Amino acid sequence: MLVTGEPPQPSTPPLTEEALTDEVIARVQATPDARLREVMIALVRHLHAFAKQVRLTEAEWLAGIRFLTETGRMCDDTRQEFVLLSDTLGLSSLIDLINHADASSTATEPTILGPFYVPDSPEREYGASMVEFDDGGEPVVLHGTVRDEEGTPVPGAVLDLWQNAANGSYAVQQPGVQPATNLRGRYRADDAGRYEVRTVRPVPYSIPADGPVGRLVADTGRHPWRAAHIHAKVTAPGFDALTTHVFDRESAYLDSDTVFGVKQSLIKDFVAQADGTLRCEHDFVLRRLDGPPG
Ligand code: BEZ
Ligand code: FE
Repeated sequence: MLVTGEPPQPSTPPLTEEALTDEVIARVQATPDARLREVMIALVRHLHAFAKQVRLTEAEWLAGIRFLTETGRMCDDTRQEFVLLSDTLGLSSLIDLINHADASSTATEPTILGPFYVPDSPEREYGASMVEFDDGGEPVVLHGTVRDEEGTPVPGAVLDLWQNAANGSYAVQQPGVQPATNLRGRYRADDAGRYEVRTVRPVPYSIPADGPVGRLVADTGRHPWRAAHIHAKVTAPGFDALTTHVFDRESAYLDSDTVFGVKQSLIKDFVAQADGTLRCEHDFVLRRLDGPPG
């Protein structure tokens, strides 16, 4: 029997750190979409665990909010600072490994796409040059075969290639300096699955370092450089699309690429020829979507 006029209060347990995490998760449990529910529960759990582990201060929380706000403000149609953040934290490479790594496959290893891919590059003939702007790059012939995991050539495979100029920049970074289609092109493998491309040697380059992500990279004692590479997207009907790089074995930063994109199997020799050019042989091995034929 009540002895005062106060109404009974619902009993709420004390709001401890653990109880708070459990309460947020309990509310997210109502998410109708099962995948969104799974992702959100894990996100809340890990986010809270992170804050508890480092005993995040209010000033640090605010600095984090400001950092993310600045990262968003830096984004526009040609600059994606959030993807750069993901790249420099190794998240993009982790997503690539989660979705594509297959120890049982002999297909060419994939790696990240990067921000400088531009669709609809010009179609170029077998052996043609994709150099439209001469800034003194070393001439290179990149060649090889596109084949499946059994060694059968893949005639007609499309190789969409792009890379930087000797000055370190991609054409898309230098409108008005480089022609828009410089050092990019779509090539088609011939009847024997062979391809051949005339280009220049790629060079190491800094990721865009004038924004919040560049500052974070510097503040954590890291350099902003990528090892020299040529990007490739290789596609053919019936095969898994391949997004990869060809790295130059003589490049600096192979062991410390700032976006964690280097895989040993993608490092190739650029071999000096008597005529002053370099030749790089690289076969692209595609994975059949339905497994081996027959
Ligand atoms: C690139 O390879 O083009 C690249 C990848 C990640 C961040 C910046 C550039
Ligand atoms: Fe690149």
